Amino acid sequence: MLVSGLHPSERQTVTKRRLIRPAAWVAAVLCFAAVAGFAVLFLGQRGYLGQRLAHRIQLEITRRQFDRLYSLPNPPFLQQPNEFLTRTASSLQKGAALVVACGQGRNAVYLAQEGWDVTAFDISEKGLEIARRTAQRDGVPLNAIEADATEFDYGTDRWDLLLLVYAPIPYDDAGLLQRIKASVKPGGHVLVEMPIEMHQPPERRPRIPGDLMPGELPELFRDFEIVSYSETLDVSDFYGERKLIGRLLARRR
Ligand SMILES: C[S@@+](CC[C@H](N)C(=O)[O-])C[C@H]1O[C@@H](n2cnc3c(N)ncnc32)[C@H](O)[C@@H]1O
Repeated sequence: MLVSGLHPSERQTVTKRRLIRPAAWVAAVLCFAAVAGFAVLFLGQRGYLGQRLAHRIQLEITRRQFDRLYSLPNPPFLQQPNEFLTRTASSLQKGAALVVACGQGRNAVYLAQEGWDVTAFDISEKGLEIARRTAQRDGVPLNAIEADATEFDYGTDRWDLLLLVYAPIPYDDAGLLQRIKASVKPGGHVLVEMPIEMHQPPERRPRIPGDLMPGELPELFRDFEIVSYSETLDVSDFYGERKLIGRLLARRR
């Protein structure tokens, strides 16, 4: 070998080069992979961890906003049950109901008073406190859970009625929507009342939770039987603002 014919000091240099060069390459490749991985996972808007992190931060901001809102001495939102719900629920077969993003529990407590077996969840512990207190005051059972709609275990074929009334969930999350749909019993209903509005262009991803385009709701539930759908300029029955309001009643086939 060439190395063996060299002066010992030269031999050492060549050996070092042979060892160091590949090591430097490996280190460079690892560094590049780490930087690229970090960029893809954390920085990219579509990166999984980037999205999870953004979701966590957004959730915490929303939770604080609603905790503050539900702690106000004179709440600025309407507290009577949703009118579309009260006019619809009486015609439905009573059973297990899930109220998604139940807030202070106006609709959950109403359903419990009507004899439904109600589970309700929200991220706001302050809202849930009010819901539990009202249910206790009215002597009706209510299972009120602190949970995030994107992570809640909806189950399968579980609910006779699932409520998405002013529930700001990411409606464009196909996986989430699929889990929600599969949790409704065949023959059970989904009742949605949501403002139809986009806070950013529809092509921007991820969408702001709750954003919905005109005509999108019945399209999202096209595999259900659409019992009724309307989009009307009306008063939102949470904040009382005039908006385009979508109301959907859909039945799982
Ligand atoms: C406009 S309020 C409506 C509350 C209730 N649905 C009603 O109609 O009275 C929206 C509620 O959604 C809850 N919320 C927002 N994001 C949520 C999430 N990812 N999971 C569960 N609840 C959420 C908020 O804490 C708040 O109580």
